[in-house]
Amino acid sequence: MSNIRGFASDNNAGVHPEILKALSEVNTGHTVGYGDDKYTAIARDKFKEVFGEDVEFYPVYNGTGANVVSIQTLIRPFNAVICTDVSHIYVDECGAPEKHSGAKLLPVKTKDGKLTMDLIKQHMHGFGFEHHSQPKMVSITQVSELGTVYTIDEIKAIADYVHSHDMYLHMDGARISNAAVSLGCTLKEMTFDAGVDVLSYGGTKNGMMFGEAVVFANAKLAENVKYIRKQSTQLHSKMRYTSAQFTALLSNELWKRNAEHSNKMAAKLAEKIAEIPQVKITQKVQANGVFCIVPPELIEPLQKEFFFYMWDESRNEVRWMTSFDTTEEDIDNFVKTIKKLLN
Ligand SMILES: Cc1ncc(COP(=O)(O)O)c(C=O)c1O
Repeated sequence: MSNIRGFASDNNAGVHPEILKALSEVNTGHTVGYGDDKYTAIARDKFKEVFGEDVEFYPVYNGTGANVVSIQTLIRPFNAVICTDVSHIYVDECGAPEKHSGAKLLPVKTKDGKLTMDLIKQHMHGFGFEHHSQPKMVSITQVSELGTVYTIDEIKAIADYVHSHDMYLHMDGARISNAAVSLGCTLKEMTFDAGVDVLSYGGTKNGMMFGEAVVFANAKLAENVKYIRKQSTQLHSKMRYTSAQFTALLSNELWKRNAEHSNKMAAKLAEKIAEIPQVKITQKVQANGVFCIVPPELIEPLQKEFFFYMWDESRNEVRWMTSFDTTEEDIDNFVKTIKKLLN
């Protein structure tokens, strides 16, 4: 691999300098651990300012942990969670949500990574039947795993449907900032105003060093979370370092600046890729991911220069992600290499 910078994942990017600064600013003296510190209180206030007074904020280490804690807090082992068949909770968490919550995940095939009421309906049966896991939650991913974005109306329609069945709506918001920028709305409008009950709020892919948060719509929903967070090993002792990063991310619109940049870079990458006839973009580019079917002979040599992951090997579909630190030069070099390898 000759190039270190590439398009493999927004997780592969470094840490934004404003986050590093925030980390070093809180790195003085001693403070109470486990979230009873003043920096976590500041972050909690920030979340309330951004998402609404009623929300409850629980920092965790990583995205899988945020999903596990979100699900386990609201779900019992005889319940089921409806999600897409490409969702991170279903495919990429080594079964952690099932292991921790005991619930069954019910996957749904989609064209674009997004659930709809009609798609959810296929699993909405067996209520009250003791032989079936009882559907109790729908989990949507915003931005979806295929780089597409739910509109606010789409989220509201799912939330209304889910609530009419006495169920919860979970949002895996690993890339929530990219989605809000894509829709041109606030983080609150796209989540709790639209009916989300519990949110896995993503920071790492948008410039943080580590840390995600579980955010509940209200205190009632969060009743048992502190025990579950500890039991699932997601309670950080030196929490000031996670909290300070959240405060920095949600201040001076850093979350928005970072997401705007990475979305813009994905649009630019897609524009240049669209000029290459042998490469076919397979999904709408609405945030920071570009999905393409490429000639099979391109894959290995390109991966040697710029590592990236296959999305669907059966049809030579690849996933290219941009991040807050992607440059136009990165894109030019990547596209130039693709053109060179194809000729
Ligand atoms: C949609 C989605 N959810 C959650 C995560 C978080 O996973 P991790 O446990 O690696 O932080 C990711 C990371 O790739 C993701 O893409």
